[in-house]
Amino acid sequence: MQANIVVLPGDGIGPEITAVAVDVLRAVAARFGHSFTFSEHDIGGIAIDNHGEPLPASTLDACAKADAVLLGAVGGPKWSDPNAKVRPEQGLLAIRKALGLFANLRPVRTHPAALNASPIKPELLRDVDFIVVRELTGGIYFGDKTRDADSASDLCRYTTVEIERVLRSAFRLAQQRRGKLTSVDKANVLETSRLWRDIAARIGREEFPDVELEHQLVDSMAMHLISKPRAYDVIVTENMFGDILTDEASMLAGSLGLLPSASLGEEGKVGIFEPIHGSAPDIAGKGIANPYATILSAAMLLRHSLGLEAEATTIEAAVSAALDAGQFTADLAAQGQALSTQQAAQAVLAQLT
Ligand code: NAD
Ligand code: IPM
Ligand code: MN
Repeated sequence: MQANIVVLPGDGIGPEITAVAVDVLRAVAARFGHSFTFSEHDIGGIAIDNHGEPLPASTLDACAKADAVLLGAVGGPKWSDPNAKVRPEQGLLAIRKALGLFANLRPVRTHPAALNASPIKPELLRDVDFIVVRELTGGIYFGDKTRDADSASDLCRYTTVEIERVLRSAFRLAQQRRGKLTSVDKANVLETSRLWRDIAARIGREEFPDVELEHQLVDSMAMHLISKPRAYDVIVTENMFGDILTDEASMLAGSLGLLPSASLGEEGKVGIFEPIHGSAPDIAGKGIANPYATILSAAMLLRHSLGLEAEATTIEAAVSAALDAGQFTADLAAQGQALSTQQAAQAVLAQLT
C-alpha cells in the first residue's frame, strides 16, 4: 500500500517522540512491503514563530489531503502568556474542528510488567482494558468566550447532531468489544448533560438494544475509574470531561507517556493520531520522553486510517514486548536504569525487524 502521512511534530517533546514513531512506521512499511511518504508541517508554537499563526493554511491543506496525520504535541511556556493574542493550543483545536474530528478514541490498557509503575494497587489493575470516546469538537471548548474587566465566560453548548454522532461511534465500538457502554455526564446540574443523557437513552433503546448502557455522573466516575477500572469497556463523554478523565486514567497504565489516541470524523475522512499527553516542557530537549504513547498512536493510525490491522497489532505487540522486557523510560522506571527516548524506540524496533 502507498500512503501519504503528514507529521506535525509541534513543540516541546513533540519533535523527539514523532521522530521515533516515524522510524517505527518506516520499519513496519519495510517489513510488510508498504510505501509510506512523510512530510512535516508546523503547528502550535513553532507555527506561531515561523508563520505568525498556530495553524497555517499550508498545514491544514496538507493534512486535508493526507491519508493520515501523526501529531506530537503543542504548547509551552514560551507561548503561554495569559494575555497572548494567539496560543499554540488554538492551532490544535482549529485543526480538529476544521477536519471534523468529533470522536477522540483513547484506549487505556494496563501492562503486566508496568503495574508497579502505577501508584494504584496492582490487584486493581490487572487486565484493565477500556476505551474512552471523548467528544472533540463541541462543548465548552468551542462555545463563545467573553472577557471584560470583571468577568469572563465560556459557553458550553451542544447540539443534538453533535451528541448523536459521537454516541453512535461509541455504541458501535461497544458492539465490537464487550457490549457495555458507560455514558458519563453531569445531568444533575448541566442542561447539556440532560440533553446528552436523553439522547444516549434513546439511541441505546432504538438502535443498540444489544449494548448494555449505563449512565454515570462525572464526579463519581472519577472515583470509580480508580476503584474498579476493570468494570469498564467503552466510556463516552463530552469534551472537557473526557480530557480530564483520561489524564487521570493514564495513572492506571502507569504514565501519561503510555496513552495513545485517534481523532476521527466521518467514515473515510482523514484522522489525526497523537499521544494524549502534552509537550512536557519540563523534560523537553533532554531526550528522555517516553515515546510509547506516540508509537501506539502510529499503530492506531495504521488501523483506523489505513486499514492495516496486522501491522497495527504488530506494533502494539512490540511495545508490549518492550515493556515486558523492562524497557522503561524515566517516567516508568522505579529508579536509575531509565532508557532514553531513542533506546526505548530501539527496543520496539528490535521486535519489528
Ligand atoms: P503534559 O502532558 O505536557 O505534562 C504533564 C506531566 O507529564 C509532565 O511532568 C511531563 O513531563 C509528563 N509527561 C508527559 N508526557 C510524557 C512523556 N511522553 N514521557 C514522560 N513524561 C511525560 O501537561 P502540562 O505540563 O499540563 O502541559 C504542558 C503543555 O502541553 C501546555 O502548553 C499544554 O497546553 C500542552 N498540551 C498539549 C497537548 C496536545 O498537544 N495534545 C495535550 C496536553 C497538553
Ligand atoms: C489534549 C490537550 C488539548 C485538549 C489542549 C492542548 C487543547 O489537553 O489533547 O488532551 O484539551 O484537548
Ligand atoms: Mn488533555
